[in-house]
Amino acid sequence: MTPEPLRTAVLISGRGSNMAALVKASDARGCPYRVDLVLANDPDAPGLAFARERGIATWARSHKGMKRAEFDALLDAELRKAGIELIALAGYMRLLSPEFIARWEGRILNIHPSLLPLYKGLDTHQRAIDAGDSKAGCSVHVVTVELDDGPVIDRAEVPILPGDTAADLAARVLAEEHGLYARALAGFARTLQG
Ligand code: GRF
Repeated sequence: MTPEPLRTAVLISGRGSNMAALVKASDARGCPYRVDLVLANDPDAPGLAFARERGIATWARSHKGMKRAEFDALLDAELRKAGIELIALAGYMRLLSPEFIARWEGRILNIHPSLLPLYKGLDTHQRAIDAGDSKAGCSVHVVTVELDDGPVIDRAEVPILPGDTAADLAARVLAEEHGLYARALAGFARTLQG
């Protein structure tokens, strides 16, 4: 018997194109995850509209003025209420508290726009260009308390072309992110299904 798809939440802060790609990929027959909830730490995050149009439950609240652990406790409560089993960070531009990560250990993935372990943190594309690299890319990894540091599940590469701006490179990498994240999340969900 095919196991039930894992109940999955996606955390966003902005555009949400990776979240949309994960949702669209989950339409495929036999997909081992299902996006049941989209959460944002910004009520104006543009990606929320896509989730709502698709009939996916959303929760959005600004973290401003709240302690990290306090805000993450709200997130945790929403995730538990929805019976979430797996979390995908998709352009979620806020560090999660160690308490939150410990509660969801081994169940949070992130996509990062560099070939990890290179260029953790921000400005990844400009840093790759400035270093004279010939290739860049994106990585999906398990989230641990250190930023962009957990075990890498999969990566995709793109070339850096002469004259590339950071925006050119970001667009080329983003096109790869969408497919990579959907594949990696599905593969990871299968391992959790056992
Ligand atoms: C992506 O490049 C992702 O790798 C990075 O932030 C960007 C988010 O884009 N962490 P989107 O919100 O998924 O469109």
